[in-house]
Amino acid sequence: MYKSISLIIFSLLFVLITNNLSAKDIPGYAYGESNLETAPYTLKDLQLLKTTVLFTEDDAKWLRKSRKVLEPHAEEILDTWYGFVGSHPHLIYYFSNKKGEADANYLARVRARFIQWVYDTADANYDQDWLNYQYEIAKRHHHIGKNKIDDVQSVDHIHFRYVVALLYPVTATLKPFLERSEYSPEEVNAMHQAWVKSVLMQTILWSHPYINANEF
Ligand code: HEM
Repeated sequence: MYKSISLIIFSLLFVLITNNLSAKDIPGYAYGESNLETAPYTLKDLQLLKTTVLFTEDDAKWLRKSRKVLEPHAEEILDTWYGFVGSHPHLIYYFSNKKGEADANYLARVRARFIQWVYDTADANYDQDWLNYQYEIAKRHHHIGKNKIDDVQSVDHIHFRYVVALLYPVTATLKPFLERSEYSPEEVNAMHQAWVKSVLMQTILWSHPYINANEF
């Protein structure tokens, strides 16, 4: 009895430690790091944005439930998204090197952070660290920050129109994965709607560097 309780505690500690380590170990992933720039928008701005896209506490609850559903399929989800980007020359272009070839190392490094983003989006933990990392991701798509974290020689800027446009394929292709669960069609729909609203809010926050001062 005593032995099995110790084993359970040990296993829980192991899972906690390895989970934390795995996020921190992702090259270039900087969520929560104190050296990140403070986002140019506040938690109050975020609250008003949530109100505007009809994002409620219920949506946050559905996002959190979606994590368990999506986690076992994370690699397959990324295969789907990378398959989409990879099959469109005008999109894979943004991962290409100066010779115009897709940079496999760059793709792999971003992929690991993208998987973590799925978990972070599902966690729906809207605090100042989340907001600061939104701004960091924004800069990484824009010429003020692209290529820097992976130290690559790639195209230096992602055109804004595609950042917004990708919202649709990213969220539409997620639905079949949400359906691989014990949830009813209505519940799957609630999870999916929460994802659409969250990605919409994020792409709005990522638009900041692209917009003239005082026009955001
Ligand atoms: C809904 C739209 C989009 C989502 C959800 C998304 C998501 C992400 C995420 C999670 C990262 C990694 C952030 C990190 O470093 O932690 C990232 C980076 C990146 N994304 Fe996107 N992205 C979107 C639009 C696009 C588009 C349209 C392109 C161009 C094809 C693109 C190309 C890239 C590239 C090249 C990076 C690496 C940037 C760097 O050098 O640091 N993304 N994206």
